[in-house]
Amino acid sequence: MSMSHGVGRGMGGGGGGGGWAGLRGMRRDRTVLKQTIKKGTTRRILSFARPYRKILALFMGAVVLDAVVSAINPLILRALIDKGILGKNQGLVVDLALLVAALAIFDAGLSLLERRVSASIGEGLIFDMRAKVFRHIQSMPVAFFSRTQTGALISRLNNDVLGAQQAFTDLLSNVVGNIVLVSIILATMFVLSWQITLVALILLPLFLIPARRVGQRLGHMMREGYNLNADMNIVMNERFNVSGAMLVKLYGRPESEAESFESQAGLVRDIGVAQATYSRVFFICLTLTASLATAFAYGFGGIAAINGEIQVGTLVALTAYLARLYGPLTQLSTMQLDVMTTLVSFERLFEVLDLEPMIKEATPSREVPAGPVAVTFDHVSFSYPTAEEVSLASLESVATLDQSRSGEVIHDVSFSVAPGTLTALVGPSGAGKTTLSALLARLYDATEGVIALNGVPVPDVSFESLRDTIGVVTQDPHLFHATLRENLIYARPDATEDEIHQALDDAQIRKLVLSLPQGLETVVGERGYRLSGGEKQRVALARLLLKAPRVVVLDEATAHLDAESEAAVQLALNETLSGRTSLVIAHRLSTIRHADQILVIDAGRVVQQGTHQSLMAAGGLYSELYETQFSAQETSGDDSLK
Ligand SMILES: Nc1ncnc2c1ncn2[C@@H]1O[C@H](COP(=O)(O)OP(=O)(O)OP(=O)(O)O)[C@@H](O)[C@H]1O
Ligand SMILES: [Mg+2]
Repeated sequence: MSMSHGVGRGMGGGGGGGGWAGLRGMRRDRTVLKQTIKKGTTRRILSFARPYRKILALFMGAVVLDAVVSAINPLILRALIDKGILGKNQGLVVDLALLVAALAIFDAGLSLLERRVSASIGEGLIFDMRAKVFRHIQSMPVAFFSRTQTGALISRLNNDVLGAQQAFTDLLSNVVGNIVLVSIILATMFVLSWQITLVALILLPLFLIPARRVGQRLGHMMREGYNLNADMNIVMNERFNVSGAMLVKLYGRPESEAESFESQAGLVRDIGVAQATYSRVFFICLTLTASLATAFAYGFGGIAAINGEIQVGTLVALTAYLARLYGPLTQLSTMQLDVMTTLVSFERLFEVLDLEPMIKEATPSREVPAGPVAVTFDHVSFSYPTAEEVSLASLESVATLDQSRSGEVIHDVSFSVAPGTLTALVGPSGAGKTTLSALLARLYDATEGVIALNGVPVPDVSFESLRDTIGVVTQDPHLFHATLRENLIYARPDATEDEIHQALDDAQIRKLVLSLPQGLETVVGERGYRLSGGEKQRVALARLLLKAPRVVVLDEATAHLDAESEAAVQLALNETLSGRTSLVIAHRLSTIRHADQILVIDAGRVVQQGTHQSLMAAGGLYSELYETQFSAQETSGDDSLK
């Protein structure tokens, strides 16, 4: 916003958008005033502004100059009337007209410069902040994301960054510009006629007091309005995504859904009406006070002019100044609110930036030694971290974080996987299989014990080496909203066309991909929705095969497949996995009969260990699980597997 508009509006226009400028501050949530800002926040904010200090100085210069220029006009008017018109000096009139024109052109250029400069500072700051917060959030462990509401995070990246940005442009230009302008105007008015100025200012408290009241009420309404809107949005979000819409169709009563939505939308409507009314009250206060002040000035000034105490031009100039005074004054009166809002935004960002990632890369870090990899778990115990350790209360929309531990889910687990062999993890649901695989990939750090790759403890391995060494297909694989090709080469950006096709072939998904109208360029929708569960899983497998890591972890990677394609994928996997160290989690025991080693996990412990034959011979949990599944398969006539 250019200052000539920023400060010129207010009440100069009389109608239209006039007093709304001052409302910006009022719209903020007044509760921010009750918050205490940590020491050092301001200094930290300044450190963000440091790279911009030269351009910031230029900006401030322009703002001040702009304020000065827009304060000059009434003085020219005064000279025009007193010296030019009343003095019948045509030359002076022409000169003054030219001066006004020149100033207008100068001001136009100035406001353009100002906008350009403020935009590049503001956008630059937004960029710096966003980039920094994004990088930081990415460095957070998975535990953080499983606790944090995505919406709250996105809002940090959007709203608070935007809020913080305003400090440097809107707020700075408004505060500095308005202070300069108000001081110039008041000083000039006092010099012109201190008596009339005093009379006009008597009315000021009359305006400021109700303005504050209304502002408070309005802030309250705003907050309520935000909440009501948010509630309404939540309903829409929940009902209008695919799964929600399906649920309503299958079980819901659309009529009652519509009714409950309408009652919420109705509240939004009511608060909207109340807000509009209050805003208008505020605006009326502003215009009324200014008009009354003008009336005072007319009355006292007119009489003074008749008595020859002041000149006509001076009186005209004074009333012109009065018209320009109230807008900036309003903005200044709500400034505290703006400043606090901005500080709070910054603080909320700093809060995220200060959150230390729980999983940090070791310095100095080590590489996993070349060649086939041996995996060892040595007396490993683990409990999931508490919310307090990984997240922020404000990101979870709860007042205090849960501090209770989940309890130990892995107890003293030891086993080793020889290089190039296949180890299967089986066991009941909730036993801790996925947790073990997450520990290996260092999504979490073990609470006790050591997990090592070729003798190097996982926490000592560099992130890059760890990612290169271990490939995981998770229980519920994710595909980005992008083309199949992009999803595939995410694991290896330099993969050749042949390699891609080979991987698709091996994962038994090539035929399907090629049958799609756009083949590899097909965009897989949000959460890969256009693919069936089994297809998605095979794409994820192809992605893993493309990456060809030395250690492969498959978490129920074939769970969604029907018996036939599972057998096919199994065959392909046997080929591809040979020579790699593999950890395969499976519910269907038929798929892991050939494993070199089978670990039976129950309630976080390894309860049995051996090959299929030895475990079957030994009896116990494994043979029980196997018998149950086998008889189930018998009855369903599904025994096509080897
Ligand atoms: N993020 C988490 N925070 C706290 N507890 C968790 C978390 N994830 C899993 N758990 C708990 O840890 C235990 C082991 O879970 P895990 O996912 O490892 O089981 P699983 O053996 O993979 O089961 P399934 O066969 O059903 O996939 C469970 O009791 C589960 O409730
Ligand atoms: Mg699991």
